[in-house]
Amino acid sequence: MVRPYAAKWLKKRRKRDPSAAASDAEDGKGGNGEDAEDQTEEEVEEKKRKKKQEGERGAGVVAEGREEESPNGSLPAHVLPGLPLEKTPDEEAKPGVIFILEKASLNVGKVGKKENILNADDHANYLRKQCRDPAEFRPDILHQAMLAILDSPLNKAGRLQGLYVKSDDGELIDVKPHVRLPRTFKRFCGLMYQLKCKKNIHATGNREKLFRMIKNPVTQHLPVNSRKIGFSYSSDKLVHLRDYVAAVGDDATLVFVVGAMAHGKIDADYTDDCISVSNYPLSAACCIARICNVLEQRWNIL
Ligand SMILES: C[S@@+](CC[C@H](N)C(=O)[O-])C[C@H]1O[C@@H](n2cnc3c(N)ncnc32)[C@H](O)[C@@H]1O
Repeated sequence: MVRPYAAKWLKKRRKRDPSAAASDAEDGKGGNGEDAEDQTEEEVEEKKRKKKQEGERGAGVVAEGREEESPNGSLPAHVLPGLPLEKTPDEEAKPGVIFILEKASLNVGKVGKKENILNADDHANYLRKQCRDPAEFRPDILHQAMLAILDSPLNKAGRLQGLYVKSDDGELIDVKPHVRLPRTFKRFCGLMYQLKCKKNIHATGNREKLFRMIKNPVTQHLPVNSRKIGFSYSSDKLVHLRDYVAAVGDDATLVFVVGAMAHGKIDADYTDDCISVSNYPLSAACCIARICNVLEQRWNIL
């Protein structure tokens, strides 16, 4: 039997911090489950709600449940342990960044009996039969790009204000910075398939929407004083990103627009500038790692 997702993590937490064990017991998460049995489900839910309202941080609200795969190979959505769900006033005042990933390949197709997100490796024959170029179907680029953003120390330090994904068929997805993305590609595709079908995905154990389809254009979701910077290898404006970011300063919210597709250029007509940051064509993930690294150094995030 699969071990409950939260159990492994809770065991580690209790080892590190014995007081956490006491608070977990209060929540009915005690190892033998006796406390939970003494309370009705509503009481347990009510306690959880109260704790959340009191400003409990991410570490205490890891989605509970099992790491089970759904029929299409997806995982339930989780929040990242340790990441703040809501920012403190102090964190709110610190400058942050927003990422927009453009032209992400998220196309659903029915191959055999199963519908799934199409990709160049597993569905090449199917795509060729449909007279479509498999090279265009690269959800793996989006997966890697999202991992580069969400796993970055920049995000862990609470500086990621927003992450938006624009699919090549024009849909816009809002991704919460504290989401825990599936690590494997198969599970990622399963999750994206669920999202395409249901239009949003909740955290397990609470009602927060971790992924949701939102209305275009993306600009209506950006702060007023944002500086929207498009990235392209083919831009004539080759810059040292560190100097470029320093010149913009911390007054405006930086919005980085990076392509999540294999070929072509982002058509981000809403950007204020379009820059190249290297003499070489980079992968989206490498480009994002460079952006995160520059900001982590600037804001002294180790
Ligand atoms: C796999 S590349 C797409 C390739 C596409 N031929 C291009 O250069 O735009 C993914 C994204 O990384 C970014 N990128 C790649 N190399 C870059 C560079 N040297 N400077 C700035 N952005 C770059 C662009 O946003 C690009 O859309």
